[in-house]
Amino acid sequence: MQIIKTIKELRPVIHEYRLKNKSIGFVPTMGALHPGHLSLIKASREECECTVISIYVNPIQFNDKEDFDSYPRNFNADTQKVRDAGVDILFIPDDKEIYSKESSTFVEVSGHVTNILCGISRPSHFRGVATVVCKLLNIVQPDKAYFGMKDAQQAIVVAKMVNDLNFPVDIRFMPIVREKNGLACSSRNENLTDKERKKAIVLNQTLCHAEKRIIEDEERDAMKVTGEMYEMVSKTKGAEIDYISIVSLPDLKDVKEIKDQVMIAMAVVIGETRLIDNITLNVNEKK
Ligand code: PAJ
Repeated sequence: MQIIKTIKELRPVIHEYRLKNKSIGFVPTMGALHPGHLSLIKASREECECTVISIYVNPIQFNDKEDFDSYPRNFNADTQKVRDAGVDILFIPDDKEIYSKESSTFVEVSGHVTNILCGISRPSHFRGVATVVCKLLNIVQPDKAYFGMKDAQQAIVVAKMVNDLNFPVDIRFMPIVREKNGLACSSRNENLTDKERKKAIVLNQTLCHAEKRIIEDEERDAMKVTGEMYEMVSKTKGAEIDYISIVSLPDLKDVKEIKDQVMIAMAVVIGETRLIDNITLNVNEKK
């Protein structure tokens, strides 16, 4: 595995793969790698001949400095994990490599997809994500780039940017990987205490309850389902709800009556840690 820190070094290496007609898969991450990230690497390795992963904690997608400073960073463990996972190129740029002092261009996906769910409580978050992903896609120039449905809104925003700006890349949406107890794998889980980790299971339990109500009981009133979800989470001490919503896919419009494809999405702060989770359902398909 090649570990590369600069764009100047990365470009000729990528060029070599291109000359040999090798397909390139790309997995952008912020590190503190877990089985969710590894599932994206696995998908890339299955579909592409060269897999590039980036680890870069992107400062401009964080709303406050404290959150950025406390974001987990495990460089040595991460390097071992990606080596074991069979990654070809690990790209680990530093801040000045990505944002020079003169840099004054940002990418903003405007409109509804960024003004709902996480876009409400994290105002400039998706502008930071779109900008860094745009830069990384231009640097790596992959054939396919892999995004997890754990951050479904992010994947939708990226796919919209790629479509709107005609990037020649296929954005692949990959399923959420969970721990045995249902908790969605997340780098932020590292910041949870043992007690908080137990409480965090309430997100998945609530989503499973919603799924049961919609699929088994055929409940179609979105307010009724989200109301029950609010009640369940509210019973957990130290859990503060940011949002619980049922939206249509892929346009992320709030729905009143549950039909076709929907996503049930939630963000909850447990102690100091903001966690997100979701499930997607197609109510036309009985499970
Ligand atoms: P990060 O949180 O490190 O996530 C990197 C990728 O891993 C994202 O596509 C995310 O959706 C996916 N992922 C995280 N947890 C997952 C899980 N449990 N199952 C499946 N996939 C999962 O998302 C970011 O970094 C950044 O915003 C980034 C896109 C790198 C831009 O800075």
